[in-house]
Amino acid sequence: MSTPTPRPGILDIDPYVAGDSHAPGAPRIIKLSSNECSLGPSPRAVAAFREAGDHLYRYPDSAAIALRKAIAAEYSLDAEKIVCGNGSDELLTLLAQSYAGPGDEVLFSEHGFLIYPIIARFSGADPVTAPEAGLTVDVDAILDGVTEKTRMVFLANPGNPTGSYLPTAEVVRLREGLPGTVLLVLDGAYAEYVTADDYSPGGDLVDANDNVVMTRTFSKIFGLSGLRLGWCYAPPEVVDVLNRVRGPFNVSSPAQAAALAALEDTVHTEKIRAANGTWRAWTSQQLSALGLDVAPSVTNFVMVRFPDDPSHNAEAANAFLTADGILPRRIANYGLPDSLRITIGTEAEMGELVATLTRFMEKS
Ligand SMILES: Cc1ncc(COP(=O)(O)O)c(C=O)c1O
Repeated sequence: MSTPTPRPGILDIDPYVAGDSHAPGAPRIIKLSSNECSLGPSPRAVAAFREAGDHLYRYPDSAAIALRKAIAAEYSLDAEKIVCGNGSDELLTLLAQSYAGPGDEVLFSEHGFLIYPIIARFSGADPVTAPEAGLTVDVDAILDGVTEKTRMVFLANPGNPTGSYLPTAEVVRLREGLPGTVLLVLDGAYAEYVTADDYSPGGDLVDANDNVVMTRTFSKIFGLSGLRLGWCYAPPEVVDVLNRVRGPFNVSSPAQAAALAALEDTVHTEKIRAANGTWRAWTSQQLSALGLDVAPSVTNFVMVRFPDDPSHNAEAANAFLTADGILPRRIANYGLPDSLRITIGTEAEMGELVATLTRFMEKS
């Protein structure tokens, strides 16, 4: 009997594994596995979301006009070059499907975000990786990886799960080294956390070139992961393509309303950024004092390398933390089996994390 079969390549896709949120039998859960904003969204965003509940019988604004204008004003961008999506994941997927296909290559760095190989394969293209140097994207290695089949380069800047970043000059050098036919996608999911002077998420590069796109999200510093809202800033030709292929109502009205209010509450955003900086520094220092290797991070998470000894390695640490209800992210599938990625939580959560890891490192 014949059965429907998916396109060639679809069954080669490894499903994305989301961060753990369950720890059966644990006293309580501290979820540090998905780089969410532990202090939550602005109360004004939650109020706007609730208010939107009174209008659910209406379709959302298909063009997200008010939201795009507000994003443009906040980041000094051109609203006409912004497209909103159901999470930045949706926009990354639509870009891959629109610009890469069978026989093409999609290039990204060794420890690049795991969505990239998934969406490359979904579009029928071959994912290709370039080595990193010292847990940081290596521009020369990416340029060396370009072939006549390369259609797209994805660069998470800052990187997930490494937490490192490329300074603007390096991103410019990458862009200049790419053929004009290759679309460079700058994924700035964590951009709002970066305070380094030599960092820029890439809006200027989009304005100056016709082969650069920047993607951003409301899932991280704005604390709206559950609503699914991302956006991209792109040249007019790319905007035109995305507006042809996206769902006409891909961003719900509660998501648009909440995001607008979140953008306005700059005091809340600054509070989140400051708290993240404080507790990232404290956590990094405490874990280093335990003898763990903490990679420098500009994001809302840290990557921690554990010793090789089987009773203190990353797998054992993950099991020990999980038994105590503290959920980090294993990153063996990012090629980093000796490390865990840990989201920066609240002061209380980081205190519990450090206390549990202290017990873990002290046990024989
Ligand atoms: C590097 C990177 N890009 C994109 C995303 C997707 O974010 P969104 O929630 O907007 O789909 C994430 C989420 O973790 C991420 O880490």
